[in-house]
Amino acid sequence: MAIPVAIAIPLSFIFTYIAYHLYFRLRFKLPPGPIPWPVVGNLYQIKPVRFRCFYEWAETYGPVISVWFGSTLNVVVSSSELAKEVLKEKDQQLADRHRSRSAAKFSRDGQDLIWADYGPHYVKVRKVCTIELFTPKRLEALRPIREDEVTAMVESIYRDCTNTDNVGKSLLVKKYLGAVAFNNITRLAFGKRFVNFEGVMDEQGNEFKAIVANGLKLGASLAMAEHIPWLRWMFPLDEDAFSKHGARRDRLTRAIMEEHTLARQKSGGEKQHFFDALLTLQQKYDLSEDTLIGLLWDMITAGMDTTAISVEWAMAEVIKNPRVQQKAQEELDQVIGYERVINETDFPNLPYLQCVAKEALRLHPPTPLMLPHRANTNVKIGGYDIPKGSNVHVNVWAVARDPKVWKNPLEFRPERFLEEDVDMKGHDFRLLPFGAGRRVCPGAQLGINLVTSMLGHLLHHFHWAPPNGLSPEEIDMSENPGLVTYMRTPLQAVATPRLPAELYKRIAVDM
Ligand code: HEM
Repeated sequence: MAIPVAIAIPLSFIFTYIAYHLYFRLRFKLPPGPIPWPVVGNLYQIKPVRFRCFYEWAETYGPVISVWFGSTLNVVVSSSELAKEVLKEKDQQLADRHRSRSAAKFSRDGQDLIWADYGPHYVKVRKVCTIELFTPKRLEALRPIREDEVTAMVESIYRDCTNTDNVGKSLLVKKYLGAVAFNNITRLAFGKRFVNFEGVMDEQGNEFKAIVANGLKLGASLAMAEHIPWLRWMFPLDEDAFSKHGARRDRLTRAIMEEHTLARQKSGGEKQHFFDALLTLQQKYDLSEDTLIGLLWDMITAGMDTTAISVEWAMAEVIKNPRVQQKAQEELDQVIGYERVINETDFPNLPYLQCVAKEALRLHPPTPLMLPHRANTNVKIGGYDIPKGSNVHVNVWAVARDPKVWKNPLEFRPERFLEEDVDMKGHDFRLLPFGAGRRVCPGAQLGINLVTSMLGHLLHHFHWAPPNGLSPEEIDMSENPGLVTYMRTPLQAVATPRLPAELYKRIAVDM
């Protein structure tokens, strides 16, 4: 008797699925994890704040777990030893990237840095970053931009909190942090400040923001089927929307490129920002236009929200812990005093401030699962098999709260780093906000400088308190879901100036 088609098709899918999983189970000794459902795997069991969910599963199944996103195996490690195995011992085998269809479109299939697989292209572009873009000399040369933006933030907070209508009212902290991050990164990457002295965004800036927002919208539009390759045909990508987006991004970038070329011809001088640097280096490194544009937009994607988020969490912790706020301010008053403002050359004399920034990055790394790596060959982690093509995540959030390697891990206590100096740029596998190994964040030092500077200015210039009626303990410290982790309830706080009025002026530079 023939089986009706309506039954045969689902049956064959189920059979294929079971056969595929059996093959995996028998051939490989995979890490343990929650039992996957047919077709969807664990997708429906994953809670929105993924790194917390993976942490809970690690409590049950151990420090290396398997999580199935549809038919793709994702391995999550949550201990410092296994982080070392992934990012140091097996680094090269695990240095590829998983590209969703949208990431593939945005990056023209990995022609940039973030989404490139580990190979000759990646090595070349990474070299450009290491020896040309993120050099200590260039970071120092770009310091006036950071100081301009941070002092502009101070001026704007001062204006708002001393406005007679606002005195004693709370401010939305991320509004100010976001402006610094946006202006700093657009100036560093593109050499442009799109916002004028009155805070008004120009036409190019509005276009820029619209492109970033559209990119996020397109990225989030992928259906569940993204994880189930054989279902993708039912959910085709909106090719048209992606090509329009790409064309719009290229158009704006080329317009800025032409402005730079003209300006350089007129002035004859090269500027320090990445755009001018890359234009000069394009031939030397044989960089295609796609790579050049991709790299510049990578900086925006990776360097903008991460810094603002880190400072927002740090401020929430400081307000929650008045003892820490007071101690940081005592240090600032002693070292800087009341007659000038802090700058980056003061950092070596401000150890406690640096520890506050580090402690915030420990408890609240803005990318708690880093960016996913992908195995380019079969490899073993923690004694388990990780088949080629699996995605590997390091839960750096969980590692940084592991009671096996941290004393009282949930306590916000910056002093722990005065007692023991722990590196956070990839050499100590207990603290990995920037990752480690080949794919470690190239912007780590820049990020640390900007976060510490923003924090230092905020604490030196203002005293911070929770909004009226809220006690410090009541500040909501839960996270929003997403690859980068914003506070679920954006921080609101009351700022009170603590320095003479003449120290609240922006120190503007034109570069
Ligand atoms: C507090 C601030 C920052 C944090 C916590 C942070 C963290 C990270 C992390 C965890 C990764 C992934 C590492 C991996 O895959 O193993 C990463 C990659 C990256 N970051 Fe950052 N980042 C920050 C700031 C910046 C800044 C300011 C820039 C540039 C202007 C930047 C540029 C990049 C780039 C281009 C990559 C991709 C590297 C690659 O794939 O090889 N980041 N970052």
